[in-house]
Amino acid sequence: MKKTHHIAIFASGNGSNAENLMKHFQHHSTIKMELVVCNNENAAVLQKAQQFSITSIAVTKDELKTTEKLLPIFENHKIDFVVLAGFLLQIPTWLVQKFPNRIINIHPALLPKFGGKGMFGKFVHEAVVNANELESGISVHFVNEHYDEGKIIFQAKCQVDENETAESLAKKIQQLEHQHLPKIVEQLLVEKEHH
Ligand code: GRF
Repeated sequence: MKKTHHIAIFASGNGSNAENLMKHFQHHSTIKMELVVCNNENAAVLQKAQQFSITSIAVTKDELKTTEKLLPIFENHKIDFVVLAGFLLQIPTWLVQKFPNRIINIHPALLPKFGGKGMFGKFVHEAVVNANELESGISVHFVNEHYDEGKIIFQAKCQVDENETAESLAKKIQQLEHQHLPKIVEQLLVEKEHH
């Protein structure tokens, strides 16, 4: 009997990756997107969760720091895996320790370069273009206390053209994210079964 996995997605903004995951797993038999956690009650990702009838909660920076608000909700939803997809707050230690090697993050660049503080959204693509890189891409990694430094699980690349702009690169990166993230989640959870 295959174990059912219950996933929480953390997102802060638009939530196109969150939406992509909810769509991909909508009819999946053993992988369920259970919860969307967001730190901004006006974020578009909350509407997207509603469209898929998935519970969403808004948390403040302070509420994230303690287990008080989130832990009971996680337990009610039997959360056993966490995907960060454009979540801009630091993940608290209690959460990292509760889910060792079961929190992943997708970063819109080829870590270890172009990671760390301030490296999110268009700032990453501007930095890559300004550095005259020949390629960029996505990195999916486990999240530990040091955020973007967790073990890298997967990377995919795209070319940075001569006349590339941060906007054009962002589109290429988003396409890679949507193409790969659901598959990586599936592989990680199925593999976990075999251990
Ligand atoms: C993506 O670029 C992802 O790599 C990064 O934040 C962005 C989220 O975009 N972590 P969206 O909200 O999923 O569209």
